[in-house]
Amino acid sequence: MKKALSLLIAMILIVTLIGGCSQSKETSSDKVKVGLSLPTQREERWVRDKDKMIEVAEEKGIDLLVKVADADMQEQITQVEALLSQGIDVLILAPHDASAAATLVEKAKKEGVPVISYDRLITNTDKLDYYLSFDNVKVGELQGKFITEKVPEGKYIIMSGAPTDNNAKLFKQGAMKYIQPLIDDGKIEVIAEQAVENWVPENALKIVEAALAANNNEVDAILAPNDGTAGAAIQALTAQGLAGEVPITGQDAEKAAAKRILEGTQSMTIFKDTRALGEEAIDMAIKLANGESIEANGAVDNGKIEVPSVLLTPQVVDKDNLNETLVDSGYIKESELE
Ligand code: BGC
Repeated sequence: MKKALSLLIAMILIVTLIGGCSQSKETSSDKVKVGLSLPTQREERWVRDKDKMIEVAEEKGIDLLVKVADADMQEQITQVEALLSQGIDVLILAPHDASAAATLVEKAKKEGVPVISYDRLITNTDKLDYYLSFDNVKVGELQGKFITEKVPEGKYIIMSGAPTDNNAKLFKQGAMKYIQPLIDDGKIEVIAEQAVENWVPENALKIVEAALAANNNEVDAILAPNDGTAGAAIQALTAQGLAGEVPITGQDAEKAAAKRILEGTQSMTIFKDTRALGEEAIDMAIKLANGESIEANGAVDNGKIEVPSVLLTPQVVDKDNLNETLVDSGYIKESELE
């Protein structure tokens, strides 16, 4: 009798324990938990990326933990460490500094957390799972082709993005495919060639001001890597009464840039649909969390490995197709251009 009773108690205990375990597992593993670390919100596009990912995460019923660093790697490191300590299943990381972010990938992988490098490539690590971005060499090619078609000879100011951002390298590489042969032929003269530290517009302003001053305002074209730096360059041109006279590139399809294109002070921008990128990021993260495979459409060398990559297509926007590309697609409202 006594034996039967203790057996019964033991059984009850076991059942309760199993029940308890499965319950806690259910609540902890039910929802996919994704960590998102963005480098900045200074450019409008990064706000859009964030908003889109939050929207899609809600739709798909996953938990998205969001951290934003203010173009500061130390801050981003602290934030990613916090995300990892919160038990995320996948990390989406757009690095402020391509190579410094490698240690974050190594940390995540030690904890069994797969990493998607978002928009900007993380270099210097063989542990990265995926790269999701646009074809960034193509972005540069579109800028280079556009500006050399407009200005096949003359004096050029060539700016590139932050040296810590691998994209900046790719954009320039793409643009120089068109510009370099004309330099070699003696058609294009480069009067200034400089990287814009941290992508800060104020730095671009100084570069263009100095180049204008040193060359008697004689400049025929400006390669600006994005809309923020283009805006600053146009400010420098405006101060010399040259706005609208000097063809200039851009990138990001920011609202202010779209307005400048319509006004004629900026020649073009590159439309990278951050809505598509954000949605793809969440889809990929859910697949990774569920152990499903992801179909890559490319591979990009990060210095250590060929990272399986999903690359979306960038598009040129100028005065002629701005409505069709940006307004019709709902990226910018017509009323925002007034
Ligand atoms: C992005 C650009 C952006 C720049 C500055 C690059 O990595 O691809 O869209 O303008 O960073 O934030």
